[in-house]
Amino acid sequence: MDAGKQKKVIWITGASSGIGFSLVERYLARGYHVLASARTEGKLVDFITNEALIFIPYDVTDDTQIDSVRDLLLQHTPHLDCVILNAGNCEYLDINNPDWSMMKRVMSVNYFGLVNSVEVCLPLLKKAQQPHLVGVSSQAVQAAFTQAEAYGASKAAVRYFLSSLRVDLLSSNIDVTCILPGFVDTPLTQKNTFSMPFLMSSEQAAVRIEAAIEKRPYEYAFPKRLTAMLWVAKQFPKRWAAMTAPKY
Ligand SMILES: NC(=O)c1ccc[n+]([C@@H]2O[C@H](COP(=O)([O-])OP(=O)(O)OC[C@H]3O[C@@H](n4cnc5c(N)ncnc54)[C@H](OP(=O)(O)O)[C@@H]3O)[C@@H](O)[C@H]2O)c1
Repeated sequence: MDAGKQKKVIWITGASSGIGFSLVERYLARGYHVLASARTEGKLVDFITNEALIFIPYDVTDDTQIDSVRDLLLQHTPHLDCVILNAGNCEYLDINNPDWSMMKRVMSVNYFGLVNSVEVCLPLLKKAQQPHLVGVSSQAVQAAFTQAEAYGASKAAVRYFLSSLRVDLLSSNIDVTCILPGFVDTPLTQKNTFSMPFLMSSEQAAVRIEAAIEKRPYEYAFPKRLTAMLWVAKQFPKRWAAMTAPKY
C-alpha cells in the first residue's frame, strides 16, 4: 500500500506501549498512515487489522538495523511528514550496590537509540513538504532526581542533541521539537516506589503531545505545574537535595 500519496505519514518509535501506543491511537483516529516501531508488537496487536497501521520491528540499539529499517519504511512510503522518536527505558542506579554497566544500557536505548532513529528517518523526512522531527526527553532534566544518574543524563543528552540538530536542519526546512513529559502512568513508571506528583494517563499525555506538535514549538514541557515545581527546586538546589535524598 502506498498510503503516503493520500494521507500524512508518521513514524512512531516505542509504539507498543504507554505514551507511544496512545499516540498511535490518536494519529490513526486523525486519519494518518502510521508506521509504528518497537521490538515487540505489544498493545499494537489489537490494531493489526487496521490498514492504516504498519508494524515495523526495530531495536533502536542495534546499529545493524539502520539500513534495513529505512528500507522497510521505504516499502510503505517515499517520505515521512512527521516522526516521533519516543522509544525509551528507565533503570535506576543503586549507589550502595551499583551496576555501572546499566549506565551504558540506558544510554544506548534512550540516547544512541534516538540518534540511530534519526539516521534511519532523515532521508525520508527530507522528501516531505513540511517535515517535523519530534524527540521525547523528560522533565527529569529540569532538576536532579535520586537514582536517575543514567536516565536523567540520557534525557539531557537527547535534549541537547535535538537543540543542536534543530540548528543544523534549519536550512533543510525540518522542524525539530523536544517533548519533556512529566510523570505518566505507563509500565516505565509503574515500577517506581516514590511519589509522582501530577501523574497522568498515557491518553492524557498523548492529547497534550499531539496538540503541541501541531504548533511545532522548539520544546514542550508538561504538565506546567511540575515545570513550575522543578523551576523552584532549581533555585534552591541544596534544599531540593536534602528533601529528596534517600534515607539509608
Ligand atoms: N512515563 C513517564 O512518566 C515518562 C516521563 C518522561 C519521559 N518519558 C519517556 O517517554 C517515552 C515512552 O515511555 P513510556 O512511559 O510510554 O514507557 P513504556 O510504556 O515502557 O514504553 C516504552 C516503549 O519503548 C520501546 N522500547 C524500549 N526499548 C526499546 C528498544 N531497545 N528498541 C526499540 N524500542 C524500545 C518499548 O517497546 P518494546 O519493549 O516492545 O521494544 C515501548 O514501546 C520514553 O522515552 C520515556 O523515557 C516517560
